[in-house]
Amino acid sequence: MISACIFDFDGVIVDTADFHYLSWKRLAIQLGFEFTESQNEAMKGISRMDSLDVVLKIGNIKASPTEKIKMAHVKNEWYKEYLDTVDDSIILTGVKSFLKDLQSHNIPYALGSASKNAGFIMSKINISAGFSAIFDGNDTRYSKPHPEVFLKGASALQLDPSKIIVFEDSHKGIEAANTGGFVSCGIGEADILYNAKYVIPSLENFTVDSLHTLLAEKE
Ligand code: BG6
Ligand code: MG
Repeated sequence: MISACIFDFDGVIVDTADFHYLSWKRLAIQLGFEFTESQNEAMKGISRMDSLDVVLKIGNIKASPTEKIKMAHVKNEWYKEYLDTVDDSIILTGVKSFLKDLQSHNIPYALGSASKNAGFIMSKINISAGFSAIFDGNDTRYSKPHPEVFLKGASALQLDPSKIIVFEDSHKGIEAANTGGFVSCGIGEADILYNAKYVIPSLENFTVDSLHTLLAEKE
């Protein structure tokens, strides 16, 4: 029996994955190499500094810790430029109505994101209100696939992880949910999120009833 939900942020609540990708791509071009969308897949869910390490490895570039901090800062400034003009239209289809449905069924939900920008974006698009707890990259020491951010959510919800379903769009995030003992639900393509217990294409038209139907498929 599931008693609560934890949502990842980028790619689950909001359509920001492309902004991250475009900002990394811009950094790669500045450093003199190409960075493709398929290479970006491995960066979903991991922290800014871990992502930078992936990018630098692809470009075969060595950088000192100070240079890395500068590069990550530049990438984040570009990312924030994309965010400057956004409004709540970046909220992914189906999210608002699913959250509303959870509220009407008294099912609590929390946020578990690797992004240090998540809290800020949430207030910008006015979506924080119904969340019982919000944990983002500012609250954690370890990046996904470590389960820390989800475990913090479970402890705020005062529930055992096995009672919580985690919605995630990244392979690493699903790994984090599984390692933490949560029920994992991938949002996206089954061949990328093959490690998830359940996979749905998106939250469009997803309701508490759909959740129960999904859970009944494998119990
Ligand atoms: C994750 C994204 O949610 O947050 C990653 O999937 C991103 O792509 C990471 O790198 C860190 O985000 P931020 O906003 O702290 O740079
Ligand atoms: Mg994500």
